[in-house]
Amino acid sequence: MFSSRIRWDADPNAVSALAARKRAAGAALLDLTESNPTRVGLPFPAKAITAAFGAVGGMLRYDPVPAGLPAARDLVAARTGAAPDRICLTASTSEAYGFLFKLLADPGGKILVPRPSYPLFEYLAGLECLRVEAYPLHYEDGWYADRAALEAAIDASTRAIVVVNPNNPTGSYFSRGEAAWLDALAARHGVAVIADEVFAEYPIEVRDHAATAIRGREALTFSLGGLSKLACLPQMKLGWIVTSGPGDLVEAARGRLEWIADTYLSVGAPVQDALSALLDAGDAARGVLRVRTQTNLAALRAQFGSNSAATVLRVEGGWSAVIRLPRVRSEESWLLELLDRYDVLAQPGYFYDFETEAYLVVSLIPEPAVFAEGAGRIAAMVATSS
Ligand SMILES: Cc1ncc(COP(=O)(O)O)c(C=O)c1O
Repeated sequence: MFSSRIRWDADPNAVSALAARKRAAGAALLDLTESNPTRVGLPFPAKAITAAFGAVGGMLRYDPVPAGLPAARDLVAARTGAAPDRICLTASTSEAYGFLFKLLADPGGKILVPRPSYPLFEYLAGLECLRVEAYPLHYEDGWYADRAALEAAIDASTRAIVVVNPNNPTGSYFSRGEAAWLDALAARHGVAVIADEVFAEYPIEVRDHAATAIRGREALTFSLGGLSKLACLPQMKLGWIVTSGPGDLVEAARGRLEWIADTYLSVGAPVQDALSALLDAGDAARGVLRVRTQTNLAALRAQFGSNSAATVLRVEGGWSAVIRLPRVRSEESWLLELLDRYDVLAQPGYFYDFETEAYLVVSLIPEPAVFAEGAGRIAAMVATSS
């Protein structure tokens, strides 16, 4: 009856099942998995946001433009430094992936994605009947891409290479050297680069050689951003694709992308009309969150000094941090104890496909008091159990 592209795996895992039981029993859990910016006490100017929608006269009229309304694209152009005609608006970066996968690949095609990284790639690609193959990132005082493995993974079915910059959850950037190498590699093999830059405005411990924006010179490149992280407003549903690379390829891609966008016309007119005010509102929330991610990371580091058996890995940017735990037991067993005895929720490394165990991933955006208490409890667990 149903399509095989839908991977139906509705069973709750042991950690979410325990969390549900504890909540039902009235436990007040400290949730260090929270990554929804509308739930972490940020100061959104509610009146200004409401007024932005109330003030726009265009809401009673609908003049669809497939790539996005010119005024909205001008605003994104000003933020990204790209020409407006190289911008295509989408309802989210998740939708942008769907558009790009349709643009670049036929069913059965292959997309290369980093590992560890954002777990949704497999689902986004699966919905377009595509396969993903991971290229590894390794850690030595900072993350780097396994260039040999990446190159070896390219074959005739490969259509795009995804880079998440900074990456979720490792917080790592490609270095400028890696980005230039990737540009040449992709061009040589005739595949596109997709650079997911949704966390670009959240730098933390950025190294000097980091490529803080990826644009194509030789390779057709699509850089993604959106309001969900830039303005902390995921509910507004607005993302964008910035296309760069050789002019002829950019032109060919632009027309086809517009054709895909025209087929769906999914971006709401109200959010485009309100964009200027939403970007302004987001600037204030983002400013608070940028300081908060740094405050929370400092609180985490303070718990795991040189005497601790656990280590907080380098976080160049983004909204999460990775804690390497002693491998004396599995991630799941660490997580279950953390939840059961300490009432703290975190994520396991395997959720993001880390190559080895044991890693915990924590969100850096919860309110500082909650975060610091949770970090202290993780440290207490490590101190008593290792
Ligand atoms: C790396 C990365 N890309 C894309 C997204 C999805 O963003 P959007 O809300 O724009 O679909 C997320 C969401 O967390 C993400 O972590």
